Amino acid sequence: MVGRTLPRHSSELTWRDYLAILAPGVAHLEEAWQGRLEQSRLLPTPTGRHALWAFLEQAPLKPGDEILLAAYNFPPVVQVLVQRGLVPVFVDIEPQTLTLDPDHLPARASQRSRMVLVTHMFGHPADLTRISAFCRDRNLLLFEDCAHAPGTLQKGTQVGSVGDGALFSFGVYKILNSLGGGMLVLSGPDADRFAVPRFSVRSGPGSLVEPLARLLFSIGSTPGLFGWTLHPFLRFCQSRLPSLARTLDPTDNDPEYRFDPAGRAPFRPFMAEMIRRQVSRLEANVAGRRAAAEGIRSRLGKRAEQIWLHPDRHGRSNASYLGVRLPDAAEGARLCRAQGVGCRQREYLDCSRLPQFAAWAADCPESTRAEKEILRIPSYPSLSDSDQERIARALLQTLQP
Ligand SMILES: Cc1ncc(COP(=O)(O)O)c(C=O)c1O
Repeated sequence: MVGRTLPRHSSELTWRDYLAILAPGVAHLEEAWQGRLEQSRLLPTPTGRHALWAFLEQAPLKPGDEILLAAYNFPPVVQVLVQRGLVPVFVDIEPQTLTLDPDHLPARASQRSRMVLVTHMFGHPADLTRISAFCRDRNLLLFEDCAHAPGTLQKGTQVGSVGDGALFSFGVYKILNSLGGGMLVLSGPDADRFAVPRFSVRSGPGSLVEPLARLLFSIGSTPGLFGWTLHPFLRFCQSRLPSLARTLDPTDNDPEYRFDPAGRAPFRPFMAEMIRRQVSRLEANVAGRRAAAEGIRSRLGKRAEQIWLHPDRHGRSNASYLGVRLPDAAEGARLCRAQGVGCRQREYLDCSRLPQFAAWAADCPESTRAEKEILRIPSYPSLSDSDQERIARALLQTLQP
């Protein structure tokens, strides 16, 4: 099965995108985004986490302030809040979209609430209409985590500008891949008051090692190459060099993780150029992802109703991550892998139950269920009919009584 193995993600970069590394690059991210988010300030950051860090540093927040956010989340995001002395208040998610459920906000809010951090998880738009109304009523800041959400629309518009701030991430596992980098989006009346974030990140030739490693990783993730290159390499590391495997492909929670603002390579002009090239075909990319997801869904017949989420409930999902809900996602992962289908259970975690956040533990049953039941499967435009068939077959096997 080695050569036929499908990666669970592909950014669908072409050699021309990689050649952008040699181009001088566009000067501003605004140019790269080509009119999207045009009412906002777009500032480059080394990663998406840095964008959140920079926002929190300058926003009117003080230690002890409470931040409401979905429990089903990316643990390092919660860690950033904790390191800034803020208090995470976990809110449960909607089971159909995996995004923060506004029904639960009133019960979790308090006199100390200062901000809602809403994540467009899997590229599914969250219920921004209700969440932003809640923030307006209570005078709370709103920050959007758009790490998965380039091309995700709400009311026909790119998400990321409804709140006061937003983060985007351009790592190798994202729909826009510039071999690292992130973006802080500032909107609303105070946007101009924010200073351009500066991080004492690595510089000099050493700082090129990181994008270079990502370049190799990204090329190795190309469908068609993955089964012959990165996949066997990662398997070798998993059996012989487990600590290197964890660094290269962190799969699980690390309670020791600490955000280090100086720990990553800086955003470079070539990254903006890579983003510009990919943004110009973002609509086609999203259409291809949605078609691939639909191809898998249609092959499941009536069984799809049992396992399909509702990604478009509050707008239009970019289908950058495709999650299905299985009665036994661990068994589903095993069957998919046996068919050479890359996938991941526990792609995101119920942070309200993680040991490092025990001081803020909460009861969020839908988040607990999502961690257990959601399996992430491939959804990229280059999935062929036979790939879609293979994925559907593995899922149907999982559903057999
Ligand atoms: C939901 C979510 N938020 C934030 C981030 C942070 O992005 P970065 O890795 O660029 O810091 C990620 C990264 O995977 C993510 O999945």
